[in-house]
Amino acid sequence: MVHNGLDDVVVAETVLSDVDGAAGRLTIRGFALEQLAGQRSFEAVAHLLFEGFLPALPGPDAFARQLGEARRAVWHRVEPLLPALATRPVYDGMRVGTALLDDGTDLASALALLAAPAVLVPALLRLQAGEAPIAPEPGLGHAADVVRMLGKSGGEAALDCYLVTVCDHGLNASTFAARVVASTQAGLASSVLAGMGALKGPLHGGAPGPVLAMLDAIAAAGDAEAWLRAAVDDGERLMGFGHRIYRTRDPRADALKAAVRALPRTAGRVAFAEQVEATALAVLRQHKPGRVLETNVEFYTALLLEAVGFPADAFTAVFAMGRVAGWIAHAREQALTGRLIRPQSRYVPPASAAA
Ligand code: ACO
Repeated sequence: MVHNGLDDVVVAETVLSDVDGAAGRLTIRGFALEQLAGQRSFEAVAHLLFEGFLPALPGPDAFARQLGEARRAVWHRVEPLLPALATRPVYDGMRVGTALLDDGTDLASALALLAAPAVLVPALLRLQAGEAPIAPEPGLGHAADVVRMLGKSGGEAALDCYLVTVCDHGLNASTFAARVVASTQAGLASSVLAGMGALKGPLHGGAPGPVLAMLDAIAAAGDAEAWLRAAVDDGERLMGFGHRIYRTRDPRADALKAAVRALPRTAGRVAFAEQVEATALAVLRQHKPGRVLETNVEFYTALLLEAVGFPADAFTAVFAMGRVAGWIAHAREQALTGRLIRPQSRYVPPASAAA
């Protein structure tokens, strides 16, 4: 039997996170998402994920300090190359910049990889906008430093909530890719780069930019229902809806909606998005009555990252900034407790050979 898409195939045991698709519940190391998002900092949750998987892991406060130092160290490593990296789309510049880091499996490697997207993404965006990049400030919280390096202010808590919300999510495609690489005992950078490759596609982390494009197109057209109906009639997928595991609303959507609502000047945008969301859900129910298609994490991600000050083409890179914590933890868990991942394929001979 061929398990196309590996639905329902269990290939790892993990203590890191659990996605209960039927109940719409995400648990991260024993905590419900709602107990972490907006409640604990990204660095505290990354520390939670790393516990037991990295030798010499210090306590949470020292870890946060070391992450600040790691941002500065990464900055010194990549700064001379930033202009060259900025000639590429920001996601690719981030990926290439991350590939410059050492491929170890120790705490220092983990910290550098956790820091890399946070340093690279704001710097590349500023260079692409014709502005000088801003060096990290190690004493700040991780999200606050990212917002400062972006040259913005006001969205620190929202970004922190976002990074926590997306830090880990069971065996999604990018985490699986990271674990496959880690199962060969390759280093953490190799695993993180595999995760980055998988996250980029629109069926995984590449959806929030298109969500914003969809909202703008609907605002310009004026009639949400007509626009959405025409899109699904044309066979298009509505970005920000549907999920392989959730058969109910993605709990991350609500965490992000609350964070976006707390930001100033987003009331009108959120109200419009809520209208579009309700209409899209009604259209999807009519269009695919046998299929549960609900709002996923990407819908409110788009609004939140827009409000923090990120351009739409950077949204997937900011996703990587959070998910890198999960990739590192899963890669270490796989390397320490798993075995080489090596599935089978069924050979289909050419028609002439089969005859
Ligand atoms: N809009 C319209 N139709 C949809 C959507 C959607 N957003 N999602 C699924 N469908 C339809 C498919 O066309 C398909 O119809 P069919 O059976 O007539 O062919 C059916 O629902 C099942 O689709 P699959 O692709 O098999 O379902 P899967 O579980 O693999 O899909 C996925 C999950 C890829 C996320 C899908 O819902 C999708 O493409 N959504 C839009 C993109 C998106 O929002 N991606 C971000 C996901 S969240 C994340 O990864 C972080």
